[in-house]
Amino acid sequence: MAPLFSPDQVDLVNSSNDIVEVVSQYLPLKRSGRNFKALCPFHSEKTPSFTVSPDKQIFHCFGCGAGGDVFSFVMRKENMTFPEAVRYLARRANVQLPEADPRAASRREKLFELHRLAADYFHWGLTRSRAGERAREYLNRREITKDSIKTFEIGYAQPGWESLLNRARKKGYPEELLVEAGLVIKREKGGGCYDRFRDRLIVPVRDGRGRTIAFGGRVLDDSLPKYINSPETPLFRKGGILFGIDRARVRIGEAGEAIIGEGYFDVIRAHQEGVENMVCSQGTAFTEIQAQVLKRYTDKVVVAFDADQAGTAAALRGLAVFLEKNFEVRIIVLPPGEDPDSFIRKHSGPAFEKLAQESRPLLDFKLDWLCKQYDIAADRGRMSVARQMLESISLIENAVLRETYLRKLAGRLGVSPEAVQEEFGKRKPPAPPSRTPAAVPEGKIDKYQLRLLKYLMGNDTFFRRVEEELYPDVFSPPLQPVVTLMLELIRQGQVPLSKTLVGALRDRRAQEMVSGWLLDSDGSGPEVGEAVQLIINLARKRVRSELLRARRELAAREGLEEDRALILRRCAALQKELQSLPSRIREKAGL
Ligand code: GTP
Ligand code: MN
Repeated sequence: MAPLFSPDQVDLVNSSNDIVEVVSQYLPLKRSGRNFKALCPFHSEKTPSFTVSPDKQIFHCFGCGAGGDVFSFVMRKENMTFPEAVRYLARRANVQLPEADPRAASRREKLFELHRLAADYFHWGLTRSRAGERAREYLNRREITKDSIKTFEIGYAQPGWESLLNRARKKGYPEELLVEAGLVIKREKGGGCYDRFRDRLIVPVRDGRGRTIAFGGRVLDDSLPKYINSPETPLFRKGGILFGIDRARVRIGEAGEAIIGEGYFDVIRAHQEGVENMVCSQGTAFTEIQAQVLKRYTDKVVVAFDADQAGTAAALRGLAVFLEKNFEVRIIVLPPGEDPDSFIRKHSGPAFEKLAQESRPLLDFKLDWLCKQYDIAADRGRMSVARQMLESISLIENAVLRETYLRKLAGRLGVSPEAVQEEFGKRKPPAPPSRTPAAVPEGKIDKYQLRLLKYLMGNDTFFRRVEEELYPDVFSPPLQPVVTLMLELIRQGQVPLSKTLVGALRDRRAQEMVSGWLLDSDGSGPEVGEAVQLIINLARKRVRSELLRARRELAAREGLEEDRALILRRCAALQKELQSLPSRIREKAGL
């Protein structure tokens, strides 16, 4: 069932009803510091512990634990359902749903214009400017043709600190708009701004309609970081776009499938050599939004995959979004050490297309891979393979296909299809990718983890920067559903999080818990340094437990040298990650 109201509509109603005013209609509120207090209407008490926060637009009773946002308050007080509360509050605030804000629209137009100007300037920098000579040589060495440079509007950012800044200023764009576009950065000291992209090759990122909405900037040598990308802006949400979609969409429709790679240059090379249905995710995990966008053009995806990589398990898990959206997913396995760019350059476009044609369904690939990872002669190994396969199989909507894979799995494990069926029946249906997280499980809450969450709730920019480093499973069980939702919201760009979070948690216990944290955290939260340290500790914990698991597997695989070599390589990669993660996380956090 489609939701009755879009999130935007609900947000509009929410922001049009000040919780202090609404609550005041029912009970007398008294100011107390930054908050308001009253005797709780939901239980009987003599001293007020019912608190309303005008900043966060939530309430919480420290006596009975009731809590939530303005909708929850009305639902409880008037005994209404959620949609009833939305309608009631919409009427109260005279909200006509929905309405576009013309001022915001014209600001977006300005941002598009500015990106257009920047793309032209960068392209000029590559094709005409003197400083662009090195970039021209670089592309020449890589055998990127003039045609590719033109179709992808590849550019070069001048080495100076204020080249684009001056250019845009001259055209009448205010600095503040350039900052919002992510093209320039405010100086920490002394005022003024400087160009984000300097002395880099520039790859414009365009939306499905061909409008430039962001840039990726690559160094011309081996220095780090290899890429600097535009930050999130009103035009650009990370994980919201597939690079190359504007050039690829027609061909995707004709070919009936999309090929997905990892990097800008995989896409540029592929298109140059005639493989025009290729797009990429810019190095981040696939998102629901990307899957949804692709769904408009096709329901088949072929993912080019470096089968040798340490993160195969994670990469396979990342493809679940496509299964959930009912895509047929196949996997291209490239020779070790190759990516699509190098493979096509070495062989040819048609050779790569042949790999795509011969690629195998994700689930067959996964079954083979798991059977190599685990010892299926041992009970534990068989159970691990079964569990991980069932995770994917349960996402398949087609009953015939599902049954086929259940049988394949049974055959491979040497058990009866009935046994697998029975295990399958026990599995809960996958949680819908909705705004309703699972109920909060019981258990102890780690107080440092809680401090970290409170910090993240109040610091959206910071949260975005480190979001990739956080995994719900390393948190205490009662925190996990909340962390999952926080990550989902921040990835969707729902900010400020402290305001959207309580509303998004429609589970009552979770709402009560989180409203309590939010109201009780005032002023006592950790500093950024402590938050970063907590993230590092959690990341270490995760990598260590993966390492431990790998070592156990190693011990269980005595004598199977090929398997052991694979696991050893994984161990080495994990060790390396353990070493490098503190500096990686500090860098992301901007410390
Ligand atoms: P080449 O090394 O020139 O072939 O680049 P590539 O485009 O093939 O990139 P690669 O396969 O190394 O990485 C895949 C994608 O991840 C890139 O296209 C970028 O979008 C992203 N990426 C890679 N390195 C970085 C980095 O240092 N910082 C950021 N923010 N993104 C990166
Ligand atoms: Mn590459």
